Amino acid sequence: MTTTRILQLTDLHVFKDPATRLKGIPTFELLNDVVEFIRSSGETFDYVVVTGDHTHDELPESYSAVRSVLNPWIDRLFQVPGNHDDRAVLRSVFGDRIAGEGDDRVNFSFQAGPWLCLGLDTHLPGAVSGLIDASQVDWARRQLADSDAQMVGLFFHHPPVDLGSPWIDAIGLTGKELLQSWFAEEPRVRLVCCGHVHHEFRTMLGHAEIMTTPSTGIQFSPVGNAPTFVASPPGYRVIELHDTGYTTRVVCLPDVRFSPVLN
Ligand SMILES: [Fe+2]
Repeated sequence: MTTTRILQLTDLHVFKDPATRLKGIPTFELLNDVVEFIRSSGETFDYVVVTGDHTHDELPESYSAVRSVLNPWIDRLFQVPGNHDDRAVLRSVFGDRIAGEGDDRVNFSFQAGPWLCLGLDTHLPGAVSGLIDASQVDWARRQLADSDAQMVGLFFHHPPVDLGSPWIDAIGLTGKELLQSWFAEEPRVRLVCCGHVHHEFRTMLGHAEIMTTPSTGIQFSPVGNAPTFVASPPGYRVIELHDTGYTTRVVCLPDVRFSPVLN
């Protein structure tokens, strides 16, 4: 049996000044903690996927700082943008990893055994919410049609479902119905890994399991009507793709080193 191991990192929110804190959380320091924890764990990965919000300020220096931390995995790195990203700046720093030019959409596609993995771009310039339109779903359908894949894993920033949280759902994904329709008719779509909501969430949609992953920095609570930050440790997701299915788990660091400034 072949197993492909993927590391998902999401919502890094790094600043130009590495000492800058987001609601009291030093995001660059915690990103370093996460990467050090993973590397010292001895786990190895065939692919590393960042599902958006690489930086908080969208500046070149911030992307360069992210690149320096992820450099050990640069040859296996795939990325999609979040709302806190700028496609052109992201591409200016990771141009060797991202196809296209300027502010073209940032998508990716790779096949691992029977699995086709696709990255979709839900970034909507100037908005916190995201957007998926028919052209992207068509692109994904064509990628699948042109492959011999038996299963599909999707990676993008904004989850394609409501989570039942008023404030998080208010900054959700416009056009998610297009993805939901595709999932309903395409049983090969099995796995959908997202970020944006800064906590773990799982649900089923058709044959697809939809999941979100904790941030490498600051964590959100889904409870309440307004943005709420919680003292939870940073985390990441491990995905193992097998010949007949997948396994996945979220790993959180053992300690809460910093508590967020309460609202
Ligand atoms: Fe984020």
